Amino acid sequence: MNSFVYDIPVKVYFGPGQLCHLGEELSKYGKRVLLTYGGGSIKRMGLYDEVIAEIKKAGLEVFELSGIEPNPRIDSVRRGAQICKDEHIDVLLAVGGGSTLDATKWMAAGACVEHDAWDFFSKWAPVEKALPIVTILTLSATGSEMDSGGVISNPETQDKIGRIARPLLPKASFLDPTNTFTVSPYQTACGAADMISHILEVYFNMDKDLYMLDCFMEGLLKTIIKYAPIAMQQPDNYEARANLMWASSWAINGFINGGRCQAWSCHPMEHELSAIYDITHGLGLAILTPRWMEYCLDQNNVSRYVQFAINVFGVNADMDLMSVAREGINRLSQFLFGTLGLKSTFTEVGIKAEDFPVMARKSCGGGVLEGFKPLRQDDIEKIFQMCL
Ligand code: NZQ
Ligand code: ZN
Repeated sequence: MNSFVYDIPVKVYFGPGQLCHLGEELSKYGKRVLLTYGGGSIKRMGLYDEVIAEIKKAGLEVFELSGIEPNPRIDSVRRGAQICKDEHIDVLLAVGGGSTLDATKWMAAGACVEHDAWDFFSKWAPVEKALPIVTILTLSATGSEMDSGGVISNPETQDKIGRIARPLLPKASFLDPTNTFTVSPYQTACGAADMISHILEVYFNMDKDLYMLDCFMEGLLKTIIKYAPIAMQQPDNYEARANLMWASSWAINGFINGGRCQAWSCHPMEHELSAIYDITHGLGLAILTPRWMEYCLDQNNVSRYVQFAINVFGVNADMDLMSVAREGINRLSQFLFGTLGLKSTFTEVGIKAEDFPVMARKSCGGGVLEGFKPLRQDDIEKIFQMCL
């Protein structure tokens, strides 16, 4: 295995009743706060009023940017960066799901440079610093609350691009599972599919690493598989929401990687679907993941699939290896499309074959997508065909 560095310095306040620490966390960075949020769910659930009350109690001045879209747009980032500059903002407070958190991260970076924020993605402009960010998560899915990534869409160029940069790591994140009680069954399902993908992108890897990390990933997967259906049926089931929330953070905060440093496969493909069709990230991943697994399965890597099938889904090991592996993929499909009720094909969500060449080419940057199995444009087009 490879050596690795473990360093995840995000302070997490987990559980109800922790918002009383919000003022003290924000005050560490100054007095002028930019509060960012999406289309209004935080107002409907009453969280907005609680947050404003805490900010006022701490004697801080609050500015606001609302209307951040799912699959957040570069224009929102530009607006936020400009407010930070004009109002001399000291700290950003993102309240919402991954879209709000991601956009806010890039506002914080955009505030520290003179160039257009899209240059971070189109020209890979360096991210040397960002204003401090605090988050209050309302949807368990992306892990943005505890990672340094952010994914931004540009409708003009039909691009959706993710980038990781250390200055974007939140300073503190408030994870109160009760803030996810209002998440719809559909978004709960998409969030579960996203978390599963974050784990499988790392789990399906031929590098030998720590047994302990394999067990940890299998435990996370079993947690999501157990609790996502419960949260969909009983939205205010605290145990289910709490398990999903903590799983979301640990699926992508870097811990499970250990010494594995292989690139991801389904995420680059999914971002191209969302870039053109603006579909929900987790839904795209749900459709792609079982097909990608099926496409990559061969005699060399079958043992990984067998381990997954037996340890995660309890598949009967009393068959030949290929059958066990395929049964693991079947069980995953049944979970995503049966239990979670997600649509299972591109056709159902309106994705057309005529866009496959461009989406496939952009997924692999015109070269090779170096993941679990190296994929070229024609491989990716075949995976897309399997999704029709
Ligand atoms: O906009 P509002 O009104 O807040 O409504 C949102 C939105 O419509 C709603 N919602 C959020 N919390 C709610 C709620 N509705 C009721 N009650 C609540 N408590 O849910 C809808 C979807 O929200 P969004 O933030 O878009 O969802 P998600 O958290 O899944 O974020 C998806 C974005 O994150 C990116 C995705 O590509 C996508 O753009 N990702 C970010 C990653 C990262 N930073 O590391 C990694 C991921 O792989 C992913 O790519
Ligand atoms: Zn994801």
